Order: sequence, then structure tokens, then C-alpha cells
Amino acid sequence: MSLSVKHLLGIKDLKKEDIELILHTAANFKDVLQRPIKKVPTLRDTTIVNLFYENSTRTRISFELAEKRLSADTINFAASSSSVSKGETLIDTVNNVLSMKVDMVVMRHSATGAPHFLSRHIPASIINAGDGINEHPTQALLDAYSIKERLGGLEGRKVALIGDIMHSRVALSNIYLLTKMGAEVEVCGPPTLIPKHIEHLGVRVSYDLKKTLQWCDVANVLRIQLERQHKPLFSSLREYNLYYGVSRQLVDSLDKEIVIMHPGPINRGVELNSDVADSGHSIILDQVENGVAVRMAVLYLLAGKKDELVV
Ligand code: CP
Repeated sequence: MSLSVKHLLGIKDLKKEDIELILHTAANFKDVLQRPIKKVPTLRDTTIVNLFYENSTRTRISFELAEKRLSADTINFAASSSSVSKGETLIDTVNNVLSMKVDMVVMRHSATGAPHFLSRHIPASIINAGDGINEHPTQALLDAYSIKERLGGLEGRKVALIGDIMHSRVALSNIYLLTKMGAEVEVCGPPTLIPKHIEHLGVRVSYDLKKTLQWCDVANVLRIQLERQHKPLFSSLREYNLYYGVSRQLVDSLDKEIVIMHPGPINRGVELNSDVADSGHSIILDQVENGVAVRMAVLYLLAGKKDELVV
């Protein structure tokens, strides 16, 4: 079994079978991560560079840990402390790194399409760790893994994506993944944060948070991305919280239990209140834990190793 792609640029390019293979492989790696010795020699002859042109906590640490658990050699690159500040281009930077015999590139960039551009110019496998407002494929894969783990499957599940859909790469990757896997998806937020014609991607649209929470099995609450909003799209954070913030009072008023997710980082008291984020409804830290196993699976499958998963 192998993936139909050489790079992981986005969920858009994956077949349903690719997603199933990644989730199945991640389950094997999650077993490995429960053992006293969490390391396997699977990628011991592979060198991976983590190129981060944009800030990250979870994704960068998770990829680095996944690589170390697989025994890969890793190099971490932060654009802010590199020769990018002296004007070096993306392609020159990457070619210089690759000339040091690097096999795979994990890349986060604020420009939409940056990893796609790179994939046309270099021979190494590229993994998109988030490009602008386009995709964040490993986040959607770990979200799917976490829903499956909690609810037993994705087919027929009702998943709401709530908040800043317009600027969220997590939203787009989740929409592609969940619709491919037979889940129902509803996006909910103020009209200024929902892209026009998004229903053409096979999702429902709602502007009423209470109705959306009443409808869904899972609410994936997304961060308000103020750094990507170049003009005000709602009057104040306080008003946003009043109409679209997920609070304990709202969750308790539903006549059913729902699962709460958030990709992080959370704006506490804006899109999600602490009394929900830290409650038993929340699987936010499970998402982070599952991210390591999912990224191990992606790295392993793209490296094309034929060895046993666990040696
Ligand atoms: N979820 C996520 O991408 O978080 P970071 O920006 O901290 O990597």
C-alpha cells in the first residue's frame, strides 16, 4: 500500500484511499507511542528539514517529535534567524539546504501556494505544514483521526466548522477531507467571515451558532485570524464573543452532548471560552497528541519505506 502522491501539498490532491491509509498507519504509530520506548528506526537513513517561514508552536514541535520518533536526522530552519533576512529567495534557500543531501522538506509559509511552487522546482518530497489561507493538510488529518477515535468513524457524522472560515487553512483542509470521507459539514460564522459560494464545496452555511451547535456532533471552533484581516470584519472581539463565542452556557443549553475541537492557538474568551476549552467536552489536547502519530504516518508513507513499521 502506498500513497498516490509524492508530496503532501493539500487534502484536495488526496484520494479517499490515501486518507484511509494515513489514518490506519497513524493508528499503528499511536500504539508505538504508548510503549515505554517510543522510538523506531524506520527513517534512520532519512534527513528532513523543517522550514518555517511563519510562527508555529504545535505543528513545528509535532513534526520534529515525529521525525525523532522515526529516527530521522532533522534540521530546523526559522526564516527569522536565517539569511532570508538578507534577501535570499525561497528557491535559493531550499536549493542550498538540499545540496547538503536532505531528503524531505516540511514547510510552513504565509504565501498561499509556496509549497506547490517548491514542489515544481526541487526533487525532494514536500509536506505542507500550512500555506497562507490555503491548506493545512496534517491538521485536517489529525482532526479526522481524533473524531474517528472519539466517535468511531467519519461517515455520516455532522461536523460544524465555526468562526473565521474566510482566513482559515484548517477550514479548507477539513472541508476537503470530511466531504471526501462522507461526513456532513456546516460552516458557521458572521457573513463577513464566510467566503461567498462556499456551498459549492458541498457544505451547509449557517449564521446562527445555537442552531449549528444543536445540529452537529462535533464543533471544530476556529481561531479568529486578526493577523490576516486587513480591515475590520466585525465590530469588536467582545461582540464577536457574544454572538459566535462558544460558551459553557450555550453548550449546556443543548439537548445533547457534542465534541469540542480547536486547532490552536486558542483566543480564550473570543471564539472559545475557557469553561468549554477545559471541559470534558473538549478533545483539544487529544488532537495535539494524535498529531505526532499522524505526522509519523505521513513521513513514513512519503518516504516510501518498505520496512516493517515497527522493528
Ligand atoms: N494548529 C496549528 O497549526 O498550530 P501552530 O500554528 O501553533 O502550529
